[in-house]
Amino acid sequence: MKSISTAIAYPNARPHLGHALELVQADFLARAWRQRGEAVYFQSGTDEHGLKLQRTAAEAGMEPTAFVETQLPHFTRLITDFGAAPDRFLRTTEPEHKAMAQALWRACAANGDIVKKTYRAWYNVKEEEFLGSADEYPDPSVFGVEERFLELIEEENYFFQLSRYQQPILDLIDSGRLEIRPANRREEVRNFVAKGLQDVSVSRDTAKLAWGIPVPDDDAQVMYVWFDALTNYLTGTANLDEGAIVVDERWPYDLHCVGKDIARFHAVMWPAMLLSAGLQPPRGILVHGFILSEGRKMSKSLGNVIDPFEIVETFGSEAARWLLLARVPTQDDGDVTISRFRDLYASDLANDFGNLVSRVISMCRKYVGHIPHVTPDQIANLEETVVAEAWQAYDQALDALTIDEALAVGRTLVVFANRRIEEHKPWVLAKDPARAEELAEFLYELIEIIRTVTAMYAPAMPKTAEVVWSSLFSSLGERAWSKEWGVTLPGSPLPEDGLILFPRLEDAC
Ligand code: MSP
Repeated sequence: MKSISTAIAYPNARPHLGHALELVQADFLARAWRQRGEAVYFQSGTDEHGLKLQRTAAEAGMEPTAFVETQLPHFTRLITDFGAAPDRFLRTTEPEHKAMAQALWRACAANGDIVKKTYRAWYNVKEEEFLGSADEYPDPSVFGVEERFLELIEEENYFFQLSRYQQPILDLIDSGRLEIRPANRREEVRNFVAKGLQDVSVSRDTAKLAWGIPVPDDDAQVMYVWFDALTNYLTGTANLDEGAIVVDERWPYDLHCVGKDIARFHAVMWPAMLLSAGLQPPRGILVHGFILSEGRKMSKSLGNVIDPFEIVETFGSEAARWLLLARVPTQDDGDVTISRFRDLYASDLANDFGNLVSRVISMCRKYVGHIPHVTPDQIANLEETVVAEAWQAYDQALDALTIDEALAVGRTLVVFANRRIEEHKPWVLAKDPARAEELAEFLYELIEIIRTVTAMYAPAMPKTAEVVWSSLFSSLGERAWSKEWGVTLPGSPLPEDGLILFPRLEDAC
């Protein structure tokens, strides 16, 4: 059993394209692993506590609970609009989660890792992150954070003794038991840990922050939002037995998909909390980059924010997924502009893949009337080798969690098939009855390439794959996405009408 998650988003503002990116990446991997025959558990959700949320709600003149309810539909709509299918959407305000966070707290405390201390530190409310001691950094400008988000905190709080976990975390990283991708992010995290870890405050005084999960046995404190939020992964995959945390076969997580801004929380604090509680840390963390627009961070003041729902309205859900997965580097920052996406929609989807499918079907209908008859000997040739190599490259990219590279393998096959059509000119072969066998063989191979590419694209565009499946391969059942060559049944019927998978945008909008 494999488990995968997205980070849980703060519902203090509407979802942005970065949330959509992370969601479709995790959804792609869940589907791709299932396609390989794995059982997969996929979890997503919302992070509903914390100072930022409490403040945003107050600014809106609402109670946090009521405010969150107004925001939540946007996050559930993000999932439906982008065709994602998490097995569980978890909200940190659920009672079950509260109980789990308290149980994890007790487990860490029982291990002697949670202690009370007085301290003064700078806090970045925007990122819900402690920045450093007020004695060490008397001047807050060193943090480069807008002043309105900075706050000097002077309180008695509970601390998690993260410093105790420096060596265990280094060991996890160095042994590969915790695999952080890409390598440059792993190095960043490793260097950070190697410099020494500071203990972290994991609670706030309720006078300052009321909107959170109460610390067990201390009503005057609520949990720091990150202690609470990270526990969501446990809430979805474990039960409580008289206060003891009992995980099931979904534990530990194979992969947490997160953005670069929160890699440390997942790669350092989270494994330390789990080790403290005697639980296995996650096996992997995929750190994606940030979505940029014209080379710059999307921001309201620059006026370059792209609404994720606008992408779906413009391109449709399937193409929106494709564009984010295939055309934004999985492990690096990526630029998104509507005009670039328009060009890519036309080239990748309408002209290359969509056109290949529709022209091959119409040639088969016109020249043969059904999927051509061939013998296994006839089809053992160049195409078979090309497809076998493509699967190898695809699987390698999938194992390396570079979704963009995996999909590029499919794109190369599409270009190869379209080029073969131009070279072989089936319309010329069709004029010569003596070459009927050659024509049948060629068309059959093209159908097999379509089957292969559709299998590769299926985790990115599941509904499109379903349409191709029901039009051409339904008689194969699950075998339709097999990596074997020559699986399509010769003589099978073809769809009555031409198949337009990706209408030209002018027609679509
Ligand atoms: N609530 C925390 C996560 C807790 S997980 C236990 C949080 N929420 S967030 O809403 O700010 O971000 C959610 C995810 O979106 C994070 O992984 C973050 O990196 C990602 N992104 C935020 N801005 C982004 C871009 N501009 N581009 C890509 N991803 C971005 O952090």
